[in-house]
Amino acid sequence: MSETTRAAEPPAGTEPGSGTAPGTRAAPVFVTAETDAQMRALGRRIAALLRAGDLLVLSGPLGAGKTTLTQGIGEGMGVRGPVTSPTFVIARVHPSETGGPALVHADAYRLGGVEELDDLDLDTEMDASVVAVEWGEGIAEHLTDERLEITIARHPDDTRRVTLTGNGARWSHLAPDAE
Ligand SMILES: Nc1ncnc2c1ncn2[C@@H]1O[C@H](COP(=O)(O)OP(=O)(O)OP(=O)(O)O)[C@@H](O)[C@H]1O
Ligand SMILES: [Mg+2]
Repeated sequence: MSETTRAAEPPAGTEPGSGTAPGTRAAPVFVTAETDAQMRALGRRIAALLRAGDLLVLSGPLGAGKTTLTQGIGEGMGVRGPVTSPTFVIARVHPSETGGPALVHADAYRLGGVEELDDLDLDTEMDASVVAVEWGEGIAEHLTDERLEITIARHPDDTRRVTLTGNGARWSHLAPDAE
């Protein structure tokens, strides 16, 4: 009886945020970072959610705080620093000092696409790493489904609004009250 009832319902994963279909987009989570220290603290909180194979796409204008946030992520992951701008290196590998995944920090301006990371002969496997890519504004849409999009808007008073949007099944449970 219950089987019949279920069959009459739409298949799981066809609605946004239902959690099972790739390509779904979770409701965005907004966080304000008033200072660079708060931005790093947010990065440490995000790090607690991360596991090997995750892709983070950081977008926002020049000086928005993408690298600052990545510094906090690196701190939270316990990787070897310092995390600095990847602009002149394309991608930098920060190995874990605690037995966890490495952090690969890449600059999209130097990279044709995330898949090119595989061709760079980095000293780590992408599947065994967390990959954080800094992008300019508005180009993250061209990426693969499974990613956490982090968009940073810069306000005149130097505060930042950070928007976290989970894409794909991996991130579909990112909830506005997630700590
Ligand atoms: N609320 C804030 N959050 C983050 N950074 C802040 C904040 N207020 C001031 N800052 C400063 O803004 C700068 C942000 O620079 P950062 O290199 O992180 O930006 P970015 O987005 O990586 O820039 P780029 O596009 O050049 O890579 C830092 O100097 C940081 O100290
Ligand atoms: Mg940067």
